[in-house]
Amino acid sequence: MAIIEEQEELQNPLVEGLLLRRKPDPCALVIFGASGDLTHKKLMPALYALMLRRLLPERFVIVGVARSEGDDETFRNDMQEAVKQHARDEFREDIWSELAESMHYVATDFADEGGEDAVHDLLVRLDEERGLGGNRVYYLAVPPPVFPTIVDALGKRRSATGWTRLIVEKPFGHDLESARELNALLWEHFDEREIFRIDHYLGKETVQNMLALRFANGIFEPIWNRQFVDHIQITVAESIGIEGRADYYERAGAIRDIFQNHLLQLLSLTAMEPPIDFTAESVRNEKVKVLRAMHTPGPKSVARGQYGRGFIEGVEVPAYREETGVAPDSMTETYVAAKLFVDSWRWADTPFYVRMGKRLARRETTIAIQFKRAPHPPFEETAAEGLRPNVLLVHVQPDEGVSLAIGAKVPGQGMSIRTVHMDFLYGGAFRTGMPEAYERLILDTLLGDGTLFTRSDEVEEQWLLVDAIVAAWQRDRPSFPNYAAGAWGPPSADDLIHRDGRSWRRH
Ligand code: NDP
Ligand code: BG6
Repeated sequence: MAIIEEQEELQNPLVEGLLLRRKPDPCALVIFGASGDLTHKKLMPALYALMLRRLLPERFVIVGVARSEGDDETFRNDMQEAVKQHARDEFREDIWSELAESMHYVATDFADEGGEDAVHDLLVRLDEERGLGGNRVYYLAVPPPVFPTIVDALGKRRSATGWTRLIVEKPFGHDLESARELNALLWEHFDEREIFRIDHYLGKETVQNMLALRFANGIFEPIWNRQFVDHIQITVAESIGIEGRADYYERAGAIRDIFQNHLLQLLSLTAMEPPIDFTAESVRNEKVKVLRAMHTPGPKSVARGQYGRGFIEGVEVPAYREETGVAPDSMTETYVAAKLFVDSWRWADTPFYVRMGKRLARRETTIAIQFKRAPHPPFEETAAEGLRPNVLLVHVQPDEGVSLAIGAKVPGQGMSIRTVHMDFLYGGAFRTGMPEAYERLILDTLLGDGTLFTRSDEVEEQWLLVDAIVAAWQRDRPSFPNYAAGAWGPPSADDLIHRDGRSWRRH
């Protein structure tokens, strides 16, 4: 991660990034699942943004692969619509034509005998025509059951020259055992350094800023520990429901969809020790230590919920069990809250309260470091009635920024103290748009930088914790639904934190 001294240099979004990164090698990006939702909504818009900023290699091709019928022209037209609809930048015909010219499509079913031949033959031809040097990035944007066939086929047909990298989308397994099986399958054909497991939260600017905040500022490190921190709260709240993904969500639930990956990664970055440098191995070594040090919470330290009917921004929405494709008696959780501990010198006995859910009152991802109260405020008790403990609040999204809650004197006679906020807002400090997580992650893969991807041991530690929680859930059957859409979760989540004499941050 480079440190930017001159903010002015970032004013022009088109030079952003150019200043900081070298150009990737020539290569082919092969997207398996090119007709799918992820490609339309995230991957193509991200590639367009990279093209606009001239961050893609000079010699570069995109090969889309899926079963749906189509050819280069239909693929280009389809992707053009996707970019127009989902890209963060204005659509520019000149930029698009340049990108489209490098795009190809192969309709094939990898489950069929020889289904991969067409892709291989095209890549060999493009290598010759475009001078790609045999460099390949394979993106597995397909449902997990298709992974083994594709991984096997790719492994057996590795290019004789150049480098190969494989991007694997979540979910990475369903439990520890299946994650280990998947790792074993990947290692049969690929080296760990060639595997890029995506957790798109790590690609978010504000999540990376957690590292900058902690390790580029001398003032935080001395107080970032059990002596000064009372507790930490991490919230990943969404107001959306399951968006037509019942098939996936019924099997995943909130624990596998958010807790196992995004939430635990946010926690690791918050709790980790300073890495000795910013290389992939150093950062991941520190994160995995946090995951290993987390102890399994007892059943009383975990609350789960499922939304019933309710209102989101004044609009009535159905209960989870009424969503298309969801079983009418589904016991899938759409909300989880937990109290976790990291058993380390730094954090012993400091609770990490975490909560995440669908159909909550609003979209909000925050990390709140709540400090201990001032030991002996010399004011009269009534003076500080409106004073809350100091909180450093990292707004991951939306309204990206950081704010520090401090006590300040209310102007006027006498001594009355109230909590006020010192705010840093991205929008105000940097007049450049926020890149989408997938832009950063695709570019990092092209550059071979795995820092913002999860390593196999991290994924396995994450599953260890989830498996223990899920095993405990087999012993009871909560009465679902237990929170209304538009609320902040079930009463059991409040009980969990109230028992410790604390409460969830107010919104
Ligand atoms: P979709 O169901 O929308 O798309 C799946 C894609 O895989 C389609 O292009 C489909 O092609 C292709 N496919 C399926 N089977 C085969 C096969 N045998 N041979 C070749 N192609 C095949 O899924 P998503 O795009 O939503 O998700 C893809 C992956 O990304 C999943 O692992 C998902 O968990 C993950 N993900 C998705 C997110 C999202 O926002 N959508 C967010 C995070 C992760 P066709 O139908 O033409 O055969
Ligand atoms: C995905 C989950 O990984 O993250 C979705 O599968 C969730 O259920 C999404 O909605 C949230 O991502 P973001 O970037 O919108 O916070």
